[in-house]
Amino acid sequence: MKKKTGKQCDLVVVNASELLTLADAPHMPRTGGEMRDLGLIRNGGLAIEGCEFVAVGPSREIESKYAGKAKRVIDASGKVVMPGFVDPHTHAVFAGWRDREWVMRLGGICNAELGIRNAEHRTPQSRGMDYLDVLKAGGGILETVSATRAASQEELMTITKKHLDTMLLHGTTTAEVKSGYGLDLENEIKILKVIEALGEGHPIRLIPTFLGAHAVPAEYKDDPEGYVEAVMGWLPEVKTLARFCDVFLEEGAFNLAQAERILVRAKGLGLALKLHAGEFKDLGGAGLALRLGATSVDHLDYVSEEDMVKMARRAKRVQRLKGSKVQGVTVAVLLPGVPFFLRRGSASGGASARVMIDLGVPVAIGTDFNPGTCPTPNMQLIMTLACLELGMTPEEVISAATINAAHALGYAHRVGSLEVGKRADVLILDVPTYTRLTYQFGVSHVETVIKTGKVVVGDL
Ligand code: NIG
Ligand code: FE
Repeated sequence: MKKKTGKQCDLVVVNASELLTLADAPHMPRTGGEMRDLGLIRNGGLAIEGCEFVAVGPSREIESKYAGKAKRVIDASGKVVMPGFVDPHTHAVFAGWRDREWVMRLGGICNAELGIRNAEHRTPQSRGMDYLDVLKAGGGILETVSATRAASQEELMTITKKHLDTMLLHGTTTAEVKSGYGLDLENEIKILKVIEALGEGHPIRLIPTFLGAHAVPAEYKDDPEGYVEAVMGWLPEVKTLARFCDVFLEEGAFNLAQAERILVRAKGLGLALKLHAGEFKDLGGAGLALRLGATSVDHLDYVSEEDMVKMARRAKRVQRLKGSKVQGVTVAVLLPGVPFFLRRGSASGGASARVMIDLGVPVAIGTDFNPGTCPTPNMQLIMTLACLELGMTPEEVISAATINAAHALGYAHRVGSLEVGKRADVLILDVPTYTRLTYQFGVSHVETVIKTGKVVVGDL
């Protein structure tokens, strides 16, 4: 028998029942029917050298070329192997939870007073307090701002590290993290430094976003314009700690003109742009994001058909002009955990994902992990919600949570697919076929996580 020699490498994964490469995407996010193409290889394998993939393909080829001299070989028989999840939208640095608000929103307090129970809990009168009314009354985001301001940088590090550990266990290998619970320069910087430090010390790759314009803090209650000026004044200092600048465009938060002023200044200073838009109302955020060349516009539970068409047109234009440095594509980051958790689901809210995808809008999905509107950092649960609440197919959802989410962070040259030369971020799922991932919800299917070439979850 011929002795196997093969090429030296660090880690080889073989025999995956389904290897989802998400490869061959052009230099732009997947759109339309492309979102249903997972680049699936049955009985697939991959080889990793250092932090990168050196080969991805049929298991037999990988085995004969690499397995003989590999430092470690993982047998993924009966399992799905795919890229690590990219969560393109989180508010993961915060102190304190908001249990009382949860009960108030459920109507627990008023329901008990009114004697409403069981089936009656679904009537609008018994729904309890509205999320934006809680904010108006000085609660919501502002409650978390008080708790976060009171926490030291070390305390925030400890709390956030725990969240990141949970995210990693559930398969997230890259996550965007926003500031926005400081709302003054000192505390916004404190949060960005927590992100910076954890980005260096934690296995998850963190992409930092400055969200000073998350809410108007109590001290500027009567002078929101003054707060907008203040935020713009902080930009030169925070730009060294953030890759993106984001604004919460919403009634009760910041209006279109204010959002535009902040984002234009941020862009001028070299920050890339994101925007919270259409979470509760369509205030024209998608149009603004397109005009300014934002990398993503997030939420879009409410958005006009006209703006969706414009987003699709932009994507088509960028695809046509391949690679030339015109304004880039703007990805729609949908966050189905939010309308679900705020009970504004399918009937009353939720993004028009089907229309977007059918028009050709590039769609990604994320958790929006935060203590107010989506307390789960689990991308697997969000993926199931994207199927059930947004009508996306399991294939579209996987594209949206990997390669398209990487595009929503301007990071698709490094992550989001299993391709030679990219960072080796890999999940081994204990399911024989990828449809099981979104179908059997509420449990984690992640058995092994490989991040930048190293096993960080599973059999270390
Ligand atoms: O994306 N909308 C603004 N920010 C978060 C919620 C933050 C909070 O309630 O603490 C969101 O939904
Ligand atoms: Fe958000």
